[in-house]
Amino acid sequence: MTEYGTYDPPAYDPTYAITMQRAPIRPRVLLPKGWFHNVEGPCFDQIKCTERDRDLTSHGRDEPIGSRIMVFGRVTDSDGNPVRNKLVEIWQANAAGGYVDSLDVTGFPLDPNFIGAGRCLTDHDGNYSFITIRPGPYPAFYASGDQGWRAAHIHFSLFGEGYGSRLITQMYFEGDPLLKQDRMSLAIPTERARDSLIAKLDLEKSLSLSFGPPRHVPTPDTAGKLVYPPVRTDEARLQSRNPSYQAYRFDIVLRGPRATVFENKEL
Ligand SMILES: [Fe+2]
Repeated sequence: MTEYGTYDPPAYDPTYAITMQRAPIRPRVLLPKGWFHNVEGPCFDQIKCTERDRDLTSHGRDEPIGSRIMVFGRVTDSDGNPVRNKLVEIWQANAAGGYVDSLDVTGFPLDPNFIGAGRCLTDHDGNYSFITIRPGPYPAFYASGDQGWRAAHIHFSLFGEGYGSRLITQMYFEGDPLLKQDRMSLAIPTERARDSLIAKLDLEKSLSLSFGPPRHVPTPDTAGKLVYPPVRTDEARLQSRNPSYQAYRFDIVLRGPRATVFENKEL
């Protein structure tokens, strides 16, 4: 059992250099019992979350490059009760492993049609879902000079009743071989806890359609140079896209022995 509980990774881990910069250096402040239940916070069900907010493939003038996926699941408390009307936010790299972030030092290409951020509210039964593209892995830099890769992942943020009850974690993908060496995932002490962050492919929920307009392909001009067709930005183009996706289930349990691992539960 670690200082921070059975399942959560340590906030300070010298083998994962970034934790040395962001781990708390002062003793924790114990909040009064029940504080989280009594504090008044914003009502997230008043937030206007639109369909475009939860469809990260709809933010550009055209579709982003990458394999379209649906990430869905249910947010429950320790008794299996749905957590309703709570704000779920995600952010992620594009298919090449690049972030729309000035701190991204990978140098990987950005996708002009992909911002990589979305949000939605859980429904009455605690369900949420996002349409996005599968993120690419990116290199991890360690203070020791070691090199490695971050396994493909999507960052998640969940708000409880207020800003003080924000939980942040990362979702991984079933079967990703990079998980064997991802130090952030391996910092989680138990296999059961690590598994709580791995989304499972759900073929029944997936959609596979042969559909779409004729492919517009680049053709050579008289000089042999490839000429690309202009990008279509009209509504018909967006409506005629192939809606297929692979579905990944990622259920989130907020407390109890089956709780999902969070990065900042100790804060
Ligand atoms: Fe990341």
